[in-house]
Amino acid sequence: MNIAVFASGDGSNLQAIIDAAGSGYINAAISLVVSDKGGAYALERAKKAGIETLFMDPDIFKSKEDYDKAIAGYLKDKNIDLVCLAGYMRVLSPYFVREYKDRILNIHPALLPSFKGVNGVKAALDYGVKVTGPTVHFVTEKIDSGPIIAQSLVEIRDDDTEDSLRERVHAEEHKIYPKAIKDFVEGTLEIKGRRVFHRSKDEDKN
Ligand code: GRF
Repeated sequence: MNIAVFASGDGSNLQAIIDAAGSGYINAAISLVVSDKGGAYALERAKKAGIETLFMDPDIFKSKEDYDKAIAGYLKDKNIDLVCLAGYMRVLSPYFVREYKDRILNIHPALLPSFKGVNGVKAALDYGVKVTGPTVHFVTEKIDSGPIIAQSLVEIRDDDTEDSLRERVHAEEHKIYPKAIKDFVEGTLEIKGRRVFHRSKDEDKN
């Protein structure tokens, strides 16, 4: 299986995915890293790992769909089976979501359906919730609303700042995202309506 990771920023989740594929935990190739930001550190991480990168400048395309069509063309050439969004700051067009239906995953830094959109860590802290944590979900046309694959809990402490909380949320992201990707690759995820079930490989055989 070939995976493409889309990232706009630091790429710490990308790194966790690269490491998990490198160790054999995820039995798939990270074949391409795509970014809409030429200066994204994620691109450096990919290059260091010997992974092909694609920087696509949004400014040279007339529409979001044209942009996504150009990227989809690359993905088809590389026989990409799964797209993992990891801090990708663009909303995918309905065209792209349909092309890769049920084959796009995202990681969000809050417990969906709470605190959708950007700044999920700060939003949870400001709201005053006592527990937050990341969510891995399938991507649908509605932002941060697809079927949920995994979540992890992070307690919010009285002395937390946005940075200290983000650090602990990130640490959980780096565990649950590679695990969700591993499950996808092994074909053990089953979507039924809004719910995602984790079937064991043995159940598969029956
Ligand atoms: C993560 O917090 C993720 O939940 C959100 O964007 C952030 C990306 O972080 N979607 P990094 O670039 O992987 O370090």
